[in-house]
Amino acid sequence: MKICVVGLGHVGIVNIAYLLERGHIVTGLDVSQERIRHLFAGEPEPEPRVSELLSSALRSGRLQLSTDYLKAVEEASVAIICVGTPQSEKDGIPNLSFLYQAVTSLIEIVKKKRDTLDVVLRSTVPPGTTRNIASGAFGNFGNVWYYPEFLREGSAIEDMNDPPIRIIGAPKTGYYQRVLDIYGETGPVYITEYEIAEMVKYVCNAFHAMKVTFTNEISNVCRYLGIDSNRVMEVVCSDNKLNMSKAYMRPGFAFGGSCLPKDLTALLRLSNGRQEPELPLLTNIIVSNDLHIRSTVRRVRSLAVRGTLGMLGLSFKPNTGDLRDSPFVKLGNMLISEGYHVIAYDPSVELGLLDVEPTYIQSDVRKMWQGQLTKSLKSLCECSLLLIAHPISSFRTPILPILKGKHVLDLCNDPLREQIAAIADYEGVGWECRSGCVRNVSLAKAEEALKNTSYS
Ligand SMILES: NC(=O)c1ccc[n+]([C@@H]2O[C@H](COP(=O)([O-])OP(=O)(O)OC[C@H]3O[C@@H](n4cnc5c(N)ncnc54)[C@H](O)[C@@H]3O)[C@@H](O)[C@H]2O)c1
Repeated sequence: MKICVVGLGHVGIVNIAYLLERGHIVTGLDVSQERIRHLFAGEPEPEPRVSELLSSALRSGRLQLSTDYLKAVEEASVAIICVGTPQSEKDGIPNLSFLYQAVTSLIEIVKKKRDTLDVVLRSTVPPGTTRNIASGAFGNFGNVWYYPEFLREGSAIEDMNDPPIRIIGAPKTGYYQRVLDIYGETGPVYITEYEIAEMVKYVCNAFHAMKVTFTNEISNVCRYLGIDSNRVMEVVCSDNKLNMSKAYMRPGFAFGGSCLPKDLTALLRLSNGRQEPELPLLTNIIVSNDLHIRSTVRRVRSLAVRGTLGMLGLSFKPNTGDLRDSPFVKLGNMLISEGYHVIAYDPSVELGLLDVEPTYIQSDVRKMWQGQLTKSLKSLCECSLLLIAHPISSFRTPILPILKGKHVLDLCNDPLREQIAAIADYEGVGWECRSGCVRNVSLAKAEEALKNTSYS
């Protein structure tokens, strides 16, 4: 295939090297004369193997380099865009001017010289950018895919051969094979809408940054306490059941319970009151967690519902009566103090247990919730808003019928959310349940579940 790679920075030249290895004929295009001169001169590239691959392809004629869009794009069937999207100095927002200049130049060529040109965008761009290009400027000329690049400088070719994730933002469902053909990809690939692929790239980098900062703060605490941080992190990383895993990575509500808040607070206290080490990330985990609860209170307020609010679940997680540091208790308390009447249904919680298991329920919680815990599902039917704290399948009784026709705010990302959305006015605290697919997929299931159920 004849391919034009637009933008010959680090990502551009590594893409060229990779594509040459797969037998393509490539033209590299850059607006910088200096960059082209540097590449023609065969000056060494810092990335292992790249200089040799480029030099040998330049000699054999399989690689051409140009600053001229017309020459570079003329014979190519695909343009791969790798231009920079640097942070703008003014406001920190990515500067997309290089990208839009490249797109405009490509469109001019296509308009003058040819009918179509497919585009694969590899630069890192904010969500919405690819759709903007595909539906606006490029809409009439060809297909646009967003294929984010996950290479790391220093091991780029290796990363391209074995990327941590392959994700293609495709113009329409099932329309991605061309990208796989270009890159000769065989591993598992996620095919998504553009915005998901664009967001995944940002989230991965934010997560990497968070891991670096987290580990560095931990190493500061360790150093302060005279503990070997390398050994600590080595053992922490060896746990791939809870630590290096998908655990705790599902959108949901705030954390709580008897361990995470307490142990995180303990870690902070270990170095509290001193100048060093400063632990802004660890400190702000609790701030962020509390904000998540407070923003849910604002969300409830914005729904402008009157009457009683019903919470399905009160303990910090399903199937436990443990109310210690339950985020749902905190949420309920905040709603009550805002003047809402709140009731909660949670068969696992027995407030009377206070005498038996004093540590399970703090006394203020007991005082606040004694009148509000209900055993009657019928009273939930009378609520104007239901907050799903625990997945509905975790209750011993069918909950779906109660939700029919109700306004529902899902706090826990219920695995049955599509069924709930099919019969209720559904919102998730941090996710959407799109009605298009919801109705097709789940209405039948939901209606089946609704049959022959009544409550007293
Ligand atoms: N560097 C990395 O390790 C890495 C990894 C993954 C993703 N990315 C993303 O890939 C993109 C490119 O990164 P980079 O480090 O290669 O950038 P870079 O700034 O090193 O190179 C960009 C190149 O594009 C050229 N250019 C600018 N405008 C142009 C135009 N209109 N037409 C043709 N060429 C033009 C520039 O002259 C420059 O040579 C960025 O969006 C970046 O965030 C980078």
